Amino acid sequence: MIKKGIILSGGMGTRMSPLTKAVNKQLLPIYDKPLIFYPLSILMLSNIKDILIIVNKGQLNQYKKILPNGKNFGIKITYLEQSSPRGLPDAFIIGEKFINGENVALILGDNFFYGQNLTSQLQKNTKLNKGAKIILHRVRKPENYGVAKLNNKKKVIAIKEKPKKFVSDLAVTGLYFFDKNVVNYAKKLKPSKRGELEIVDLINLYKKKGHLSADLIGRGGAWLDTGSIEDFYKTSAFVSAIENRQGFKIACLEEIALNSKWIKKNNILDAIKFYGNCEYSNYLKKLL
Ligand code: TTP
Repeated sequence: MIKKGIILSGGMGTRMSPLTKAVNKQLLPIYDKPLIFYPLSILMLSNIKDILIIVNKGQLNQYKKILPNGKNFGIKITYLEQSSPRGLPDAFIIGEKFINGENVALILGDNFFYGQNLTSQLQKNTKLNKGAKIILHRVRKPENYGVAKLNNKKKVIAIKEKPKKFVSDLAVTGLYFFDKNVVNYAKKLKPSKRGELEIVDLINLYKKKGHLSADLIGRGGAWLDTGSIEDFYKTSAFVSAIENRQGFKIACLEEIALNSKWIKKNNILDAIKFYGNCEYSNYLKKLL
């Protein structure tokens, strides 16, 4: 079982500068809420209630203003700082004490997932006991992503970072499930040519041992980019279209917590007070 999750929420956000000069990318809005709400909702929907958020050094106070400690959602949020963007596997080195020898999920703070059956798919993946599981999604331009090649038994036979020649169009998304060996494996990694610890290298250690599996988000699901300004606006437009059409919010954290019975209606009243008179609060009022 996986009961712990990490959100890696630092990074320089270079492609989004000057927006990211004063504010971390994950605190910028995707339509009506900060980007970090979306990956946090994914962990909550996975039934993960013990969550570590890794932020850039010096940006902790910004985060605590909007996500203090998780009590308001009936979960536990712990924060740790990353001194510089040393790469994704650094999350497991920073988070060693938090992980405490258990299995753990990792989601990148800028990843957006949405789709039917996603919750049951997520909860199935948290049943993992041994090995690592990556989540794949088909993309039109695989040369821009890390991709995984599967054989006809859906076993991962190769992982390539931004392949110039076509290998596969199944991109490795920023959501991963690992067993307790992940800390030791992360410590074995050496920085790549670009000076970062690479998640592909970590996944390949599991693959070498025959302990890597993959799950596919089908065409009914969405995995959207939020790396560039253009992507940010497209993802915002997606959320706006769905929310305004259906009247349901994507990644309303209080709603997920209430549905999971982690909080009570009086917690929703507190949330309405906290957010003040806004459209998000109006939505919370409707939940009551
Ligand atoms: P990236 O897309 O590699 O970097 P970035 O988001 O800072 O953007 P840019 O490339 O424009 O500079 O990071 C992916 C996600 O992982 C993002 O949410 C930031 C996070 N991250 C960390 O928190 N620490 C790290 O060491 C790295 C490499 C990324």
